[in-house]
Amino acid sequence: MNARARFADPLPTVSDLDVLVINIGQLCTVHREDLDDQGPRRGADLGDVGIIESAALAVAGGRLVAVGPETEVRQELGLGEDLPSSLTVVDAGGRAVTPGWVDPHTHTVFGRTRQDEYERRVRGESYLEIAAAGGGIRASVRDLRERSEDDLTALAEVRLQRLLAHGTTTVEIKSGYGLTLEDELKMLRVARRAADSVGVRAVLTCLAAHEVPDEYRDRRADYVRQVCDEVLPRVAAEKLAQRCDVFCEPSVFNLEETETILSRALELGLRCTVHADELEPMGGSALAARLGADSADHLIRIQDDGIEALAASNTVATLLPGTVFTLGLRDFAPARRMVEAGCAIAVATDFNPGSCPIPSVPLIQSIACSQMKLAPGEALTASTLNAAWALGLADEVGSLAVGKAADFLILTGNDYRLVPYHGGVDAVAVVYRNGVRVA
Ligand code: NIG
Ligand code: FE
Repeated sequence: MNARARFADPLPTVSDLDVLVINIGQLCTVHREDLDDQGPRRGADLGDVGIIESAALAVAGGRLVAVGPETEVRQELGLGEDLPSSLTVVDAGGRAVTPGWVDPHTHTVFGRTRQDEYERRVRGESYLEIAAAGGGIRASVRDLRERSEDDLTALAEVRLQRLLAHGTTTVEIKSGYGLTLEDELKMLRVARRAADSVGVRAVLTCLAAHEVPDEYRDRRADYVRQVCDEVLPRVAAEKLAQRCDVFCEPSVFNLEETETILSRALELGLRCTVHADELEPMGGSALAARLGADSADHLIRIQDDGIEALAASNTVATLLPGTVFTLGLRDFAPARRMVEAGCAIAVATDFNPGSCPIPSVPLIQSIACSQMKLAPGEALTASTLNAAWALGLADEVGSLAVGKAADFLILTGNDYRLVPYHGGVDAVAVVYRNGVRVA
């Protein structure tokens, strides 16, 4: 059963329109009028992707102004067979259209890649062993500190182009490989410059608490103080990031340190998110819920009390199955238990040089389905609308609702389930952001 078409009010005239996409075999709006201003999707509603068949959508000024069955859209907008030459008409050829992916957790700004560590892990060393021996995040920190802003920007641009080519139109980018005041600010400036030049929408997050830097190893309290007293105030004052994150893990920052840093961030008007319960269970998810964080991320080791706390909150449970896959671990986050308990699930790549160098949301959707048993529709909502909620951007992106930004994808296939089915390979044919074809 097709939903009725929706139009901007006042109804746009034909001369207002910039782009009209017709002949959409399967339009996945991921929109529900009765639900979508109320919070992220949960439970049975998570998998409702709002399909309209034989559909069209129209764009004016970068916004969606008409979405619905093509016959209705044509009729209401007064579009006959002869369309004005000012209007770009895109024939989707019966293929499926979805919202642009929203990737709510990446570490896209870094220097060199770390395939040396990948090989060491394949040969049997663990992520934490490599980190304890001076590799891991600290290896990326040493490398990044040496590099200029221009060098890092060029690298980040290439990487963001790749994310965009896989369909990511909105991305979160964290700092966290600087770990000095100047290097953290440098990373955030690089992230903003690269995102603006490539043309992706970006939410930036200060992750100065990604690791205790080498020079603070035996005086970690001083580093926590530096983050709270110097880094976060500068980041907030210069509006270099909108959010703060902490890697809350027994061998990194404990619960008390995490709370100290995030509380300071909230005081400064930043929103927050947490790397929680990733490698060891520690209660970071419950802390995230208690602080009203945007999201708690990873959650491989989340316990029942953490699941209950997230389910009872608006903190999104962001799952990063590409990390488990890349690290060659056995256990994925208990996604089904979390969905059934009522948690709002998002998925993300965690794109970074160590634990997950995968830039492709389609591949992540495929891993989410096959390994965490998300249904394809749940994975779609988790990488669009719920991911937008996780970034505080749900009124702007994440679904194809009239009034939102015209960020959408024409897929290569005629059914959104082909995205995970084909292992995420060659899933996206055309990418539009703000009504402009960008990849
Ligand atoms: O999200 N967990 C901490 N940070 C990243 C890993 C970063 C790295 O290894 O460079 C993550 O997995
Ligand atoms: Fe991460």
